[in-house]
Amino acid sequence: LIRKVLARQVLDSRGNPTVEAEIHLDNGISATAIVPSGASTGSHEALELRDNDKSRYGGKEVGKAVHNIKSRIAPELIGKDATDQAEIDRILIALDGSKNKSVLGANAILAVSLCVARVAAKAVGLPLFKYLGGAQAITLPVPFANLINGGVHSDAPLDFQEFMVVPLGAPSFKEGLRYGVEIFHALKTILQEKKLGTGIGDEGGFAPSVASADQAFGLLMEATEKAGYKPAKDVFYALDAAATELYDQNSKVYGFKKSQPIQLISSHLIELYQELARKYPLVSIEDGMAENDWEGWKQLTQQLGGTLQLVGDDLFVTNKEFLKKGIEEKIANAILIKVNQVGTLTETFQTVEMAKKHGYRVMVSHRSGESEDPFIADLAVALNAGQIKTGSFCRSDRLSKYNQLLRIEELLGENAVYGIKLGDSKDD
Ligand code: PGA
Ligand code: ZN
Repeated sequence: LIRKVLARQVLDSRGNPTVEAEIHLDNGISATAIVPSGASTGSHEALELRDNDKSRYGGKEVGKAVHNIKSRIAPELIGKDATDQAEIDRILIALDGSKNKSVLGANAILAVSLCVARVAAKAVGLPLFKYLGGAQAITLPVPFANLINGGVHSDAPLDFQEFMVVPLGAPSFKEGLRYGVEIFHALKTILQEKKLGTGIGDEGGFAPSVASADQAFGLLMEATEKAGYKPAKDVFYALDAAATELYDQNSKVYGFKKSQPIQLISSHLIELYQELARKYPLVSIEDGMAENDWEGWKQLTQQLGGTLQLVGDDLFVTNKEFLKKGIEEKIANAILIKVNQVGTLTETFQTVEMAKKHGYRVMVSHRSGESEDPFIADLAVALNAGQIKTGSFCRSDRLSKYNQLLRIEELLGENAVYGIKLGDSKDD
């Protein structure tokens, strides 16, 4: 039973304040959990409560959320059974009472929701992934490694946000990780040789001075080959366009700003994706259209949904209401899962259940603002998602997840399964 619920302000990977919860049980077991924070957020995400006192941490302090845990949430949870996640989350949701968790703050609620799961897993003596996923939790996810960071995550003159390598052809997670890391190192050498810059962005990917998606994927192909891997056999590629950031609602036009000033309507953007998919072995495009451009999303799904994974991030915000609408309108064919977009673990599970039931693929994801907390690594295995997006291969906020997946794979031993089928990566 829960004896004590504590909270404090700690710092995330961008040096911004975030919330850590700490829960103690009456048998002496305790655990902590830290919530992440996005930069290219969807407008329908659950609310991240900040103090907005501009004189301190630029207004980003989370004292109110911390206070809400200590004074509002803690009294309600004392004496409750930590293994009853659904009941705890129900209490948290009811206590907040708002649709978007704006009363207590989704950062307050999620910190507690995650922390309860972790302390309960410890109490019953199970690794977190097994506690959450049961005996069926055996799938190690393919890493979608964001080796080139653009958009709002870096200063590179790239308007699209993420250029990922996907080691689908590897025999195991451990080997997939090695493919990815060797490509990361090869890319660094190439960028040095070409004097394109080896500075990094928020997710640990390089931020080179190249100004087109074509050039970015060209570099990834070059690095893949330099590292000794075959594109379209060992390694594939993925894009997160984060198109919401480019969209102007009034004119219904996508505007590139960082590379060169170009304006595109939805159908032209689709043509650009088609061109990239012809030239490179792309398997997945995330947020190819903006969250409010459902017409564009419909076109995109009709034209590319048969051959490519189309992932809804800002579009669905891990929320089953938006996913339901997407399913009804036949929009996208996969969903990105970010726990802080919806705010509790139970709601996250409900969204994933709905996605799987309707044949939508699931990719578990970090945020651009992360911490050393590896929760999502366990979550990805628990959900048998088969895919995880947790950045590049430097910065310990990203590596903490990869390292945890290595431990889980070792623990599962021969029972571990790696990855999913995507595109023509494996025989159907
Ligand atoms: P964010 O970026 O965490 O800044 O929202 C990640 C993404 O768009 O997938
Ligand atoms: Zn995204």
